[in-house]
Amino acid sequence: MGSNYNNYNNDPNRQRPRKRVSKQTLRRRQLGALCVIAFLVLLLVILVAKACSKDSDKGGDTTPTDATTTSTTTTVQQTEALTTVTTTTTKAAGANDSGFKLDKYSIYIDVGGMGIAYVQQYPEGSSEEDEVWSTSDAKIATVDAYGHVTGVSGGECYVTLSSRKDPSKEVMIKVTVTGPANTANSADGDKDTDNKGNNKTNDNEPQQLAEAPAPSKIQGEGYHYEGDVLIVNKTYSIPASYNPGALDPTCNEWFNKLVQGASRDGINIFLSSGFRSYGYQEGLYNTYAANDGVAKADTYSARPGHSEHQTGLAIDVNEVSDLFIGTPEAQWIEDHCWEYGFILRYPKGKQDITGYKYEPWHIRYVGYDMSKKIHDRGGITLEEYFGLTSQYQS
Ligand code: DAL
Ligand code: ZN
Repeated sequence: MGSNYNNYNNDPNRQRPRKRVSKQTLRRRQLGALCVIAFLVLLLVILVAKACSKDSDKGGDTTPTDATTTSTTTTVQQTEALTTVTTTTTKAAGANDSGFKLDKYSIYIDVGGMGIAYVQQYPEGSSEEDEVWSTSDAKIATVDAYGHVTGVSGGECYVTLSSRKDPSKEVMIKVTVTGPANTANSADGDKDTDNKGNNKTNDNEPQQLAEAPAPSKIQGEGYHYEGDVLIVNKTYSIPASYNPGALDPTCNEWFNKLVQGASRDGINIFLSSGFRSYGYQEGLYNTYAANDGVAKADTYSARPGHSEHQTGLAIDVNEVSDLFIGTPEAQWIEDHCWEYGFILRYPKGKQDITGYKYEPWHIRYVGYDMSKKIHDRGGITLEEYFGLTSQYQS
């Protein structure tokens, strides 16, 4: 027995008898293996994610939702080769360390509607007078010198407030406009529409004249009409209580067509000031009168109750200042606004008749019947057409 035992131990080919492994141990080992595999997979995922994020930092395929991205391309001379360096700066809408604080950083409005973000704090050394407002896309929303944002067509854009004293201090507001999008800049010429909103198949096709309807008459006392035309000037006022809150819908619709028509001619027209309430006009006029005196203010600003802007039928386009005079945009408005039912309300050389100096930016919606009559008579004024005065009683 003893020798047999020894022989067995010294046999080099002998195989150790397999240990019996319990089911529990087996399960523990399988679990361990699974953990190791899971850990390796996790490691791999982390490494891949890190690699992707490095790519996007270099200007990869990211689309920030609340930000605009500006790319500056600079050509740098390096010994013998020219290298192009692209710096990408992303500006985000929202609170920042500029010193400006607003009550909101996003505005939601309808086409023709108005919104405002109130300034609660200015950068050091700046005040209300230093506000400079601008829009990233006047075809979607415009903003006036007081920060009133007006929806022009459906889409998203940004309104920026900066300080005249230090233009590096700026803050952005995201504007979302609900309503029909402006397709005037569509790259697909076949999808363009004419000024009636009909599909237009050929860009060289002559424009058909518009048939803009007269706006609906306002019912009630205190409105002076000549036929279908509401007259508001220094003689005729509008009740202080009239406050539709936005442009007349027909006026707004045909203004959008005007913008599209201008765009097809390569002219950028945008709304700078539309509907104004009695109170808003009062504030404007009083500020001008305080700064320039009543006599001068009366040549360019209507007293409250006497502004066509209170009717929702008047629009100031583009630059509301003498800098607009003689620009291609002013010329386009003078030549074409009548095709969309608008007239230039304060033409050049008619100050004694209208009571106001030349305003090539102020157009008034009257509907095509009337705008054509005015156009056919050489662009005369409503006062001349109807034989009316424009003079304050006191
Ligand atoms: N600028 C025009 C006259 C208005 O204030 O309505
Ligand atoms: Zn105006």
